[in-house]
Amino acid sequence: MKLLLMGPPGAGKGTQAEVLTKRLQVPHISTGDMFRKAIKEGTELGKKAKQFMDEGKLVPDEVTVGIIQERLAESDCKNGFLLDGFPRTVAQAEALSKILNDFDMLLDAVVNIQVPRENLIERLTGRRICRNCGATYHIVFNPPSNSVKCDVCGGELYQRSDDNEETVANRLDVYEKQTAPLVQYYEQQNVLNNINGDQEIKEVLKEIGERLGRDLV
Ligand code: AP5
Ligand code: MG
Ligand code: ZN
Repeated sequence: MKLLLMGPPGAGKGTQAEVLTKRLQVPHISTGDMFRKAIKEGTELGKKAKQFMDEGKLVPDEVTVGIIQERLAESDCKNGFLLDGFPRTVAQAEALSKILNDFDMLLDAVVNIQVPRENLIERLTGRRICRNCGATYHIVFNPPSNSVKCDVCGGELYQRSDDNEETVANRLDVYEKQTAPLVQYYEQQNVLNNINGDQEIKEVLKEIGERLGRDLV
């Protein structure tokens, strides 16, 4: 299955992707995760992305499209993929459509997770992530059993550097201006599935499964 996961920062894309990637047996491709890995490793890509991410702005399209083009060319994407956080501009969506066309691939569905803006700030500032396996928690909504360790692997939990209130506000504004127009773009292509993301994590997964015709829970 070839899927796009859309939604504002904090909507739950990464949280749902953790389960979807296992159930659907497709690779999880998150541009945000790819940039964070590059920053940690100190690569050229990381150097290009860092300042934009720290300010809550989008990394330029040509950089982002380039890494997706390379990633989708890898053999594990032949039978499907789960894109999380890409595309984020109309130019990126058009580039993706061209890449898929070149690879003789078609998108099966776009899953758009909707959450009111006023809930997103609390979700993002309370998020904690495992440094080792990437599992995502929330100090109130999805707490780990031990506040400093990951339930899955025992790894150390940390807070993303862009999850402070000021950067979160910028990220939400950037989403409204640059990414929200994509909802209409995919609606016109008849692949859009709006999902209510303002409910329990399991309920969101269930609704995605219903829309995709798969038993995910
Ligand atoms: P990226 O890493 O993609 O961040 P984002 O889009 O801002 O989204 P998040 O990862 O913050 O949110 P999420 O939807 O994954 O939520 P999560 O599941 O973690 O991008 C980071 C940066 O990289 C960008 O700002 C940009 O600079 C750059 N970038 C990336 N892609 C780019 C692109 N294509 N073009 C240009 N630049 C790009 O959940 C959030 C919290 O809520 C967690 O604590 C979770 O436990 C909790 N939660 C989840 N679901 C629920 C629920 N149902 N109820 C209650 N709490 C919940
Ligand atoms: Mg994410
Ligand atoms: Zn872990």
